[in-house]
Amino acid sequence: MADDPAMTFAPTKESGLIDPTLDLFEEIDRLRTERKAVVLAHFYQDPDIQDVADHLGDSLDLAKRARDAHDAEVILFCGVHFMAETAKILNPSKTVLLPDLDAGCSLAEQCPPDQLRAWKAQHPDHYVVMYINCSAGTKAEADMICTSSNAEKVIHSIPKDRPILFGPDKNLGAFLMKKTGRKMDMWPGACMVHETFSSQKIIKMKAQHPDAKFIAHPECEDHVLMLADYVGSTSKLLQFVQEDDSGKYIVGTETGILHAMGKLAPHKQLIPVPFQDRTAACQGCNSCPHMKLNTMEKIYLALRDLQPQIDMEEGLRERARLPLERMLAIS
Ligand code: 13P
Ligand code: SF4
Repeated sequence: MADDPAMTFAPTKESGLIDPTLDLFEEIDRLRTERKAVVLAHFYQDPDIQDVADHLGDSLDLAKRARDAHDAEVILFCGVHFMAETAKILNPSKTVLLPDLDAGCSLAEQCPPDQLRAWKAQHPDHYVVMYINCSAGTKAEADMICTSSNAEKVIHSIPKDRPILFGPDKNLGAFLMKKTGRKMDMWPGACMVHETFSSQKIIKMKAQHPDAKFIAHPECEDHVLMLADYVGSTSKLLQFVQEDDSGKYIVGTETGILHAMGKLAPHKQLIPVPFQDRTAACQGCNSCPHMKLNTMEKIYLALRDLQPQIDMEEGLRERARLPLERMLAIS
């Protein structure tokens, strides 16, 4: 539980709908049992949400948790829309809740299914690998899905003579081309959070903290990744910090991960990556505005009212399931 109760009860438009004397941690706990719900949360969620979750993980772990949630009747997904949709695709008989349906993802927005279909039509011989950060409609057009945890394995599983279309993240794609030596045609998408990181500021920070290692998520641009001592998915970054013998890290990913990292490696010093400029339009570019739409209040309301739910037409779900199952089979 977070130390500062004000974090839990900060006024939002949901505040008026909730008795202010309620302890949201207790209420969520009570409702979770009543509803036979499992609460899944991504590492980019606020600390309170991470602490209230049954399982915390990266995109791959959470997809597996959702698929294997046999005992639950409800999956409450504290993450973004494509993650909750993936839970529904893999476990359709469950009620899947997302506390705020507007919690999207810039990558998913940048690659709508009709545009992917048109790109595929221009490259009929290519094998299509889509990063899990896309909608169900876009997944349904892919041959295989990958996450940042298993992307190298996925690319290596494709026959060497088969050309590849990769999307929607051109930065992850460029990183994979370097790692695997496979040439791929790239969709021009990027994460609105990771692409704001500034290499000049990281160079400055490295000079200020010469004893720190710089670790980064592969959604960062190449000029940032070139400065990194280690590149990996959220769970791999966490594992690295736990197992590595340095005492200090500059952390190049969304700021929510610092909470999980601080708990797993309490004796390490963690410094969030600097972002470009604090302009009026950017008050904290290392914070994902989509992930941060979820709040404790919305989680409470979602469990109480069993809304908002993720629903999907069965034909679409089946088409989106196939490339996900192919990924899970080799993960
Ligand atoms: P991970 O799979 O590494 O958790 O990444 C998810 C994501 O959205 C990163 O921005
Ligand atoms: Fe999407 Fe970037 Fe937010 Fe991850 S951090 S959910 S990739 S916008």
